[in-house]
Amino acid sequence: IFYFFLLLCCAYGDMSYSFPEEMKRGSVIGNIAKDLGLQTGALSNRRARIDTDGTDKRYCDINLNNGELVVADRIDREGLCGEKASCILKQELVLENPLELHRITLHIQDINDNSPQFDEEAIKIEIHESAVRGARFVVEEAHDADVGQNSVQQYSLKKNDNFILAANGNTIELVLDKELDREKQKEINLLLTALDGGSPQRSGTVVIHVTVLDANDNAPVFSQAVYKASLPENSPLDTVVVTVSAADADEGVNGEVTYDIGHVTEDVKKIFSIDRKLGEIKVIGAVDYETTSSFEIRVKAKDGLGLSSYAKVIISITDVNDNAPVVSLKSLMNPIPEDTPPGTEVGIINVQDRDSETNRQVRCSIQQNVPFKLVPSIKNYYSVVSTGQLDRELVSDYNITITATDEGSPPLSSSKTVQLSVADINDNPPVFEEQSYSAYVSENNKPGSTLCSVSARDPDWRQNGTVVYSLLSGEVNGAPVSSYVSVNGDTGVIHAVRSFDYEQFRNFKVHVMARDNGSPPLSSNVTVSVFISDVNDNSPQILYPAPEGNSFMTELVPKAAHGGSLVSKVIAVDADSGQNAWLSYHIVKSTDPGLFTIGVHSGEIRTQRDISESDSMKQNLIVSVKDNGQPSLSATCSMYLLISDNLAEVPELKDISYDEKSSKLTSYLIIALVCVSTFFLTFIIIIMGVRFCRRRKPRLLFDGAVAIPSAYLPPNYADVDGTGTLRSAYNYDAYLTTGSRTSDFKFVSSYNDNTLPADQTLRKTSHCKLIIDIIDVNDNKPVIEIKSASAKVAEDSRPGTMVALMNVYDMDTGSSGHVTCTIADDVPFKIVSEVKNYYMLVTDGLLDREFQPEYNITVTATDAGSPSLSTVKVLTIVVTDVNDNPPTFT
Ligand SMILES: *[C@@H]1O[C@H](CO)[C@@H](O)[C@H](O)[C@H]1NC(C)=O
Ligand SMILES: *[C@@H]1O[C@H](CO)[C@@H](O)[C@H](O)[C@H]1NC(C)=O
Ligand SMILES: *[C@@H]1O[C@H](CO)[C@@H](O)[C@H](O)[C@H]1NC(C)=O
Repeated sequence: IFYFFLLLCCAYGDMSYSFPEEMKRGSVIGNIAKDLGLQTGALSNRRARIDTDGTDKRYCDINLNNGELVVADRIDREGLCGEKASCILKQELVLENPLELHRITLHIQDINDNSPQFDEEAIKIEIHESAVRGARFVVEEAHDADVGQNSVQQYSLKKNDNFILAANGNTIELVLDKELDREKQKEINLLLTALDGGSPQRSGTVVIHVTVLDANDNAPVFSQAVYKASLPENSPLDTVVVTVSAADADEGVNGEVTYDIGHVTEDVKKIFSIDRKLGEIKVIGAVDYETTSSFEIRVKAKDGLGLSSYAKVIISITDVNDNAPVVSLKSLMNPIPEDTPPGTEVGIINVQDRDSETNRQVRCSIQQNVPFKLVPSIKNYYSVVSTGQLDRELVSDYNITITATDEGSPPLSSSKTVQLSVADINDNPPVFEEQSYSAYVSENNKPGSTLCSVSARDPDWRQNGTVVYSLLSGEVNGAPVSSYVSVNGDTGVIHAVRSFDYEQFRNFKVHVMARDNGSPPLSSNVTVSVFISDVNDNSPQILYPAPEGNSFMTELVPKAAHGGSLVSKVIAVDADSGQNAWLSYHIVKSTDPGLFTIGVHSGEIRTQRDISESDSMKQNLIVSVKDNGQPSLSATCSMYLLISDNLAEVPELKDISYDEKSSKLTSYLIIALVCVSTFFLTFIIIIMGVRFCRRRKPRLLFDGAVAIPSAYLPPNYADVDGTGTLRSAYNYDAYLTTGSRTSDFKFVSSYNDNTLPADQTLRKTSHCKLIIDIIDVNDNKPVIEIKSASAKVAEDSRPGTMVALMNVYDMDTGSSGHVTCTIADDVPFKIVSEVKNYYMLVTDGLLDREFQPEYNITVTATDAGSPSLSTVKVLTIVVTDVNDNPPTFT
């Protein structure tokens, strides 16, 4: 194939040819023979040949046969000429015969046989991610061995996100069209293509490897904005509460995160710390729920070059039952009065537990066996309320233990002891140790002597229990009680204030009051019975006949009296009692010792034998009356007896009765007075007699026996036994003389003062002798007077044992004064009359306490009057036990 033959110049001698490079060997460049004008054969004759200069290579040859110039070797323009724009090879054609030399210039034309080429297979560029848009980065250009149009003509960059290409002549630049982000894409490969202008066009590519360099453009980022953790209080040190973590997208130092706690108080710093590298938050101090129940901590994460960010850590502390309840006393009524009614609030307590939830639920209790309870009040408050009546005298103070327990697990509890004392109220009166007191004192005691002592107790406190004794006002025999006894206010000892007289009263009662010093005071009283015992300090008192030398009285003894006839009676009394008043009568002197006897106990004077004519008409007896006291006291009297049937026969009466020394004038005065008095009394008696006679016939009363009016016995004595009060005394005593059919009226002032001093005789006033018939009417009931009685009788007493002695009398005379005494038949007792008017109650059979332990014996005294009157008295006899029964098996 011929491309193009260029005949540059056909100048003589020089030839020029132009042809493309890289033609195959043998390719014809031109025809030299023709160009030189030679014959074809001439060339071989002239031995034409191509020479080269020096070492130049021979690229072409001549075909001698036809004179064509042909390619002898590979002609590479780039190899021969490089980048020169024109490439010329010089060859010489030598001809001999004649020697001729022709220069051949070969113009080697370029063909596009080389592609553009970059120096490196890959271009590496490092660009900071912080590079701004528009930044330019120069890239080395590509080379093409070809020249001219066949060299690099243009570049193109494969489309990408960040860069565009800017080619300016030989300078190729990458222009940053969009900022880089290392964190998004840290390496970018760009494909750059270089193109030549040949035809066909050739190209070369290179990869531009862009490495994006980091910039600290990222702050660390926490994995959570808020971390929440819960931690039990009292957790041990080094407990990890929570681990925070933050990531930094940057690299290296820029991405190295360190942790720290942000601004918190010193207290929090003492409790929590954070590991700078790991982000672990640990406990380094005591965590107390009760102090702080939650923490909010700002945590900071920082990268190496100082970008930081923050997160919040909320640590909530959970409660642990680590606080026992606390019981505190808010108010207390102390001491409590013992009269506080049940249900009274005596105190308020408050219970606190610093824990929360169930750990602070508290149950409160009070110990058993105290009269108090807890009543829940408003939240956490309890009232201590009394549940029963208090009594200081039983329990005077209480220790109340209040226990509070919470409901945590395990529960905690605490207790508090409250001391309460009970204040006294004067609620106990003094109480005497005995129901009643008795004091026994002999009469004639010394004033001031101690009778007895009383004692009362009061269990109250101090003055409420201080006992003071005093007498209750009252009267004894019409005189204030304080004139008899006194009581020591402090000791309760009772003293006699005066000397007592048994004959005045045998006993009396006083009331002693024991009072405490409370306000108002309480008191109680007790009866003290004072029993006065008898001392034989009274001589027998002869009532009839009037004591020696003071009486006219003469007893008439009928001449016909037989032996044993009662002629008179000595009547005497003794103000004492018992043995001291037991009188015995003796005739100490008599005109005719054999004629009269006297009953030792009755005082009855009887004839011992029949009166004979030879007996002296005037008989004089001196009778001594003795009591049975120790020592015994006695009195004597004279008894004038006239053995005569007629009072008128006794002219010497006056001589007997009166001392010879008595003046005759006195006798006359007495006779005159008697006459006047007789006249006056007769007048009165006639009037009375007329009245009585209308009703009943008068009866003659003389029966030859002595009618002894009971009025001789001073009623005072009996009465003291009975009611204990002394009746106003009799103003007069009346008695009849024996056998004279006359009554002797005598005014006396006896017993008005209730005492009969031993040495005081009956008062002597004017006497007269009156003969008055008084007709008795049965207007007096019999009187039963118990002289002595033993209320107890042993069951083994023999029949006939005396149990009681009674004096039964009737104030009336005659049959109206004749008394019979009976008891019921169905009791083992009977009445025996020894002396007139004296009756003994004796046992009438064997007693058996096991059969009947007690008898009420009714004594009935009935007089013989018409209608008859009667009196009943009941005696209670207790049969006392004697060990008369052996044990018996049932
Ligand atoms: C109460 O406690 C006090 C002091 O602990 C003690 O002296 C007192 O005897 C106690 N009282 C009672 C009634 O237990
Ligand atoms: C005695 O009792 C009264 C009330 O009856 C009371 O007010 C007072 O305090 C008591 N005295 C003492 C010493 O306890
Ligand atoms: C003495 O005590 C009795 C009861 O024991 C009472 O009825 C009476 O009123 C008391 N007398 C005085 C004066 O206190």
